[in-house]
Amino acid sequence: MIKELEQWHYQEEIDSIKTPQEWEVVNVSLLGRRGKLNQLFQKLKDLPEKERKQAGQRLNQIKREIINLLEAKKKEIDERKKSIFVDPTLPGRKYPQGTLHPLTYVIEEIVSIFSSLGFIRVSYPEVEWEYFSFEALNMPKGHPARDDFETFFIDFPEDKNYGRMLLSPHTSSGQNREMKRVKPPIRMINIAKTYRPNWDATHTPMFHQFEGLCIDRNINVTHLKGTIDYFVKRFFGDKRTIRLRPAHFRFTEPSFEIDVSCGVCQGQESQREKCRVCKSGWLELAGAGMVHPNVLRAGGINPHEYSGWAFGFGPERCMMMREEMKIEDIRILYSGDVRFLERF
Ligand code: PHE
Repeated sequence: MIKELEQWHYQEEIDSIKTPQEWEVVNVSLLGRRGKLNQLFQKLKDLPEKERKQAGQRLNQIKREIINLLEAKKKEIDERKKSIFVDPTLPGRKYPQGTLHPLTYVIEEIVSIFSSLGFIRVSYPEVEWEYFSFEALNMPKGHPARDDFETFFIDFPEDKNYGRMLLSPHTSSGQNREMKRVKPPIRMINIAKTYRPNWDATHTPMFHQFEGLCIDRNINVTHLKGTIDYFVKRFFGDKRTIRLRPAHFRFTEPSFEIDVSCGVCQGQESQREKCRVCKSGWLELAGAGMVHPNVLRAGGINPHEYSGWAFGFGPERCMMMREEMKIEDIRILYSGDVRFLERF
């Protein structure tokens, strides 16, 4: 038996292992329950006592050696496996990176155009009192003009001066707040989220509005036209022009709807009827007008001393009018879909 042990080439066997699979096979064949070592241990009991002791000691020695050798081999294979699978030349995996929402860029751009004219950006509450959205804007309780701004009311106790609490349906509520914050001259731009209960391809219940307010001595419609024209040329391009159409708002008098000439057909008579974008040569941009004397009064400003104008428009619409984004459904802007955001 001793002789047999001395001639056993387990070391070579372990040395020749190259793969994890081979290691597994050799491991079982040597150390497994029915492996070579156990077979030899079984044989011990048939030996004469003297030889049994000697062979037993040698066999235990060999067992320890095999265990050590196999362990070392396993380490060696693992190391090799690591160096095979890690390829430092492979390009790293990119983390999906967020971008600003396209509308954020547009708002920043609009702000910078108006700041160059001396307008100051302010932010007024999204959750607003009825008073600032209606009464202060010449729309007393129960007035039918309020219907245009069907509103989300907040479940909150009524205030005896300011009425109910609501999600601001337009940024015009900032007019009265600004008049109470600063004395004229006022050059305000108020950009905020606004809310109306509409949900279709061209409306979302939350959208943005952009409110301009200018109050000073001797302010008239030409200043309004000049300001909007300057904005339109910088934002949409030099070729675009504007026109004013009569309209009606309770908080301005006279009131206008401001249109921008279509960028696709350029408003040319021969082409406008066929134009897929406008059909008339013009695109509606904003509501505007000279601030109503009652609105100035509500803001503590004497209408005989000061006059002013205001306008309000939606940056979402502006963005879509300029970018030719071919967005068929405006709701995608607020769907939170990263694939949409990745386009910008
Ligand atoms: N607040 C009006 C709207 O939401 C727009 C507007 C603003 C009109 C300022 C006139 C002056 O439709």
